[in-house]
Amino acid sequence: MIVYFSGTGNSRYAAALLADRLGDDLLDAGVWIKEKKRADLTSDKPWVFVGPTYAWQLPRVFSDFIRGGLFAGNQEAYFVMTCGEDIGNPEKELSALCRVKGFTFRGVLEVVMPENYITLFSAPDKEEAARIVASARPGLEEGAKKIAAGEDFPERSIGFVDKLKSTLVNEMFYPMFVKSKAFCVTKDCNGCGLCEKLCPLNNIELEGKEPLWGDRCTQCMACICGCPKEAIEYGRRSKGKPRYQCPEYQG
Ligand SMILES: Cc1cc2nc3c(=O)[nH]c(=O)nc-3n(C[C@H](O)[C@H](O)[C@H](O)COP(=O)(O)O)c2cc1C
Ligand code: SF4
Ligand code: SF4
Repeated sequence: MIVYFSGTGNSRYAAALLADRLGDDLLDAGVWIKEKKRADLTSDKPWVFVGPTYAWQLPRVFSDFIRGGLFAGNQEAYFVMTCGEDIGNPEKELSALCRVKGFTFRGVLEVVMPENYITLFSAPDKEEAARIVASARPGLEEGAKKIAAGEDFPERSIGFVDKLKSTLVNEMFYPMFVKSKAFCVTKDCNGCGLCEKLCPLNNIELEGKEPLWGDRCTQCMACICGCPKEAIEYGRRSKGKPRYQCPEYQG
């Protein structure tokens, strides 16, 4: 089973492609997380966990979902991490997660997709994004072949900096950057409530017609990039930047 978490669609795209190639089921962990449901799943085929990279690791909300869930049947686990640049060295933490779950760790596949982190960096425009998505496909196809053949994902070369990014920098990242205080709306907000529906952590509530952010944000970018009126800003940091959404996988 392909289980994914996605803020702006990159990981959903990768997961849908893998499900298509492997003839496997696709499950959106974000829906379960939003409904505060613990995973209780069974699969005859290997587990393939697909998610974005947050500070060179899987998002904590997603690894917590895996850690706290029941995944019966096949006990092989593959990980696919989409990223804007690189995934660092998540292998150690993911192997440890597999040990806790009783999974056999079959490796991590790095898939470079468009950057979506617009509260800190910038997302590419539509044309550039389409080019990046197209260039990610061969790696995903190769990954699908490895899973189908029951082979490990190839080992990645890892340097000292990768180790540092996925350990110390990741630890520092959460308290420093994973906040939602700076989210606000402009006068273009029409109170449609889509942001409230999109937030996988139920961190947005409409008071009357005004969206208000709580303190459970994981910085997934679903709200700011999904608002149809582009009415959400993150202080001044997001001003004038393109909003990013990966198109649905169409085969
Ligand atoms: C909070 C946050 C942290 C991120 N950290 C990294 C990172 O460490 N390395 C990287 O290459 N990309 C990083 N990115 C970019 C995303 O991992 C990348 O765009 C991913 O494909 C988004 O997937 P999604 O559309 O499924 O949410 C980060 C994005 C966000 C929102
Ligand atoms: S999705 Fe956008 S327009 Fe709709 S309520 Fe949220 S901020 Fe306002
Ligand atoms: S508030 Fe926005 S960025 Fe934060 S978790 Fe919810 S949808 Fe994602």
